[in-house]
Amino acid sequence: MDVYNIFFSPTGGTFKVADTLAKALSEGACHQIDLTVWHDEMPRCDFRPQDAVAVIAMPSYAGRVPGVAAERLSRINGAGMKAVIVCVYGNRAYEDTLVELHDIAEKAGFAVIAAVAAIAEHSIARKYATGRPDEADRLVLTKYGDAIKRKLLSGDFSCPSIPGNRPYKDGMKAGPVPQPSDACTGCGTCAGQCPVAAIDTNDAAIVNKDACISCMRCVSVCPVSARHIPLAALQMLEQHLEPLCSARKECELFV
Ligand SMILES: Cc1cc2nc3c(=O)[nH]c(=O)nc-3n(C[C@H](O)[C@H](O)[C@H](O)COP(=O)(O)O)c2cc1C
Repeated sequence: MDVYNIFFSPTGGTFKVADTLAKALSEGACHQIDLTVWHDEMPRCDFRPQDAVAVIAMPSYAGRVPGVAAERLSRINGAGMKAVIVCVYGNRAYEDTLVELHDIAEKAGFAVIAAVAAIAEHSIARKYATGRPDEADRLVLTKYGDAIKRKLLSGDFSCPSIPGNRPYKDGMKAGPVPQPSDACTGCGTCAGQCPVAAIDTNDAAIVNKDACISCMRCVSVCPVSARHIPLAALQMLEQHLEPLCSARKECELFV
């Protein structure tokens, strides 16, 4: 069985989860379809839906699928391919992310047969869920992959009950916008890698604040660690998250 790993992952946590699951599911080739930096051209997807399964993985932003990721996924034609949907969150909560991802995937022509919620390091407040997914998560995700494979092999293609509400909760309001420090060399990596092209390609200090989705991609790809969100904004967020994020949460499988 081939696996199509379709993901949006600005700082890599969502990809780590999706990759572990995809490898556990795969008995053939594992194709990567990266929706993170996709300015104009649609990634090439030569689906062979009959003998393949898709892993569709998105981070949770304010308990929702990031709008730009939803829009990109909706442009892919699932052609009836079975799909495992995955939401990855920073140990606070994922709220309506999975149910929204289910709806987008089905509308794009995928047939959802399983859902997974997993935890990765909080990409803004990195003191929460630091280092996750860790070894324990990887073991659990591999077991989930085996369980999903058994379901597929048994010929059971039913859609499980998925947690979340419709209508969905309100999505992201404006978030913190990273800025370069004096260490910035002007190499342009952040501008080239920004999922929404919000950074000026000639001057990394010029950011379109309306376009920025606060995904922290620019912070994570900067080769000299020169981009940061303002310290006061980070400390306020950490304080807010402290009671919500501190206790370890575990992965969940809906099958
Ligand atoms: C703008 C934004 C909003 C977020 N909202 C939530 C949230 O509502 N709940 C949560 O637990 N984590 C939240 N997180 C953390 C991410 O879901 C988590 O770190 C995820 O692994 C990021 O994916 P990535 O590493 O693939 O970029 C948020 C992160 C960002 C950047």
